Amino acid sequence: MASTTSAPTPGLTALVFGASGVTGHALLKALLAHQGSPSFARVIGLTNRPLSSAIAQLPKDQRLELYSGCDLLDREKSLLQLQHIPGIGDVTHVYYAAYGGHGSDFKELRRVNEEMLTNAIGGVEVVCGEGLRFVTLNTGGKVCSALSRRLRMRG
Ligand SMILES: NC(=O)c1ccc[n+]([C@@H]2O[C@H](COP(=O)([O-])OP(=O)(O)OC[C@H]3O[C@@H](n4cnc5c(N)ncnc54)[C@H](OP(=O)(O)O)[C@@H]3O)[C@@H](O)[C@H]2O)c1
Repeated sequence: MASTTSAPTPGLTALVFGASGVTGHALLKALLAHQGSPSFARVIGLTNRPLSSAIAQLPKDQRLELYSGCDLLDREKSLLQLQHIPGIGDVTHVYYAAYGGHGSDFKELRRVNEEMLTNAIGGVEVVCGEGLRFVTLNTGGKVCSALSRRLRMRG
């Protein structure tokens, strides 16, 4: 879809987990260009390892903020990292594109990715306010049981 030039919608904030990855990086660019997405006033990209806009060849855009050090395999540290992001409570849209355990067998891949997703969504539930209206994840069978557990808990 082509990008448009309309002004950002006040109050819409996107949070992207795995912003340095193949999917997350493409998502950041699409969200800033609002291709097939609402027009965000802020786009927050989260990574584990440090990432700079210049190295990632991301557009110079004051709506874009990058935060690193959010290790989703460490529940407490990742929650603390989320809590330190200014205005995190205003996030309206969450895009989950983190992916760990490359090269592992399926059992380990599932363990790692379930843990990461559980910690990410657990953190979102703690830090995001009532304005949160949309959560999406780009994944497959490797996180099925984490998802179904979470859905059962939510009734
Ligand atoms: N790539 C594709 O063509 C494709 C196609 C269809 C579906 N998918 C699915 O999309 C999802 C993402 O895949 P991808 O190819 O975009 O993955 P990727 O390029 O390997 O990126 C993974 C992302 O996850 C982050 N990450 C890894 N370990 C982390 C940790 N412990 N804590 C926090 N962040 C961590 C990485 O950040 P750091 O660099 O900071 O570690 C990176 O930003 C997967 O579920 C995949 O199956 C991908």
